[in-house]
Amino acid sequence: MSALILDGQALANEMKLEAKRKVDELKANGVKVGLGTVLVGDDGPSANYVAMKHKDCEEVGIASFHRHLEADASLSQILEVVDEFNENPEISAFLVQLPLPVGEFEEEVLERIQPRKDVDGLHPMNLGRLVMSKPGPLPCTPAGIVKLLQRNGVLIEGRRVVVVGRGLTVGRPLALLLSSALPGCNAAVTVVHSRVKNLGEIIREGEIVISATGVPGIIKKEFIKPGAVVVGAGTFFEGRKLISDLEDAVGEVASMITPRIGGVGPMTRAMLIENTILAASKGIS
Ligand code: GUN
Repeated sequence: MSALILDGQALANEMKLEAKRKVDELKANGVKVGLGTVLVGDDGPSANYVAMKHKDCEEVGIASFHRHLEADASLSQILEVVDEFNENPEISAFLVQLPLPVGEFEEEVLERIQPRKDVDGLHPMNLGRLVMSKPGPLPCTPAGIVKLLQRNGVLIEGRRVVVVGRGLTVGRPLALLLSSALPGCNAAVTVVHSRVKNLGEIIREGEIVISATGVPGIIKKEFIKPGAVVVGAGTFFEGRKLISDLEDAVGEVASMITPRIGGVGPMTRAMLIENTILAASKGIS
């Protein structure tokens, strides 16, 4: 079997066209649409992701604002920028790129973002809404993965999904989203991570397997039930090369699979644009 490709780039391009129409409409009604980003430190991949987010904004006509702080920025220096973005009426929503050089700052920084401007859906209040299956901004990578599956005709409802990884930005909210009562979700979700024994045995139960660990090649061909749908959302760089969680041979047994480049990444950014538009439109309601 040779797996069909889940083309995130093609879907993201369609979504951006639709986003541009919505942005034009909002602007015609006098509504400002702006995205803010905060980058702390000089991690190459993070700087690259942020740059791509600004490029997407430019393509769809969203104004974008950026602050770069030194890697040794104190918590209060970061919070000062968060407060400024919270107050800035030109900024509909914003994010602080994670991980921060000082990991212990993350909780306080996320909590300081106004929930209505939280484009990542990672503020505890917005994560709480997700726990309660209430509408709110959904974390971008999980929402992008679900949309990529749905728009490629992959049924999620009632099916067995294995999520590999329990990180804050992908694995944990993804498991919440897939198992929620939100439309098109309602899956039976198992979450596994590096401390779990017999990883392969559990992953092999998945009709859909989504891996977000950043451990190169952690998902082996023999872990995959033949015909399963497989999504790789881990991002690990070796120099400038993006390495996948998925061993190449996984494509021989899966029915559908994300490519190493042009799969989940563009979908994350397309959802970021959607969440920014959502935040801007809420400003007028
Ligand atoms: N770093 C990797 N993914 C994300 C994300 O979705 N949001 C933020 N803020 N940082 C990230």
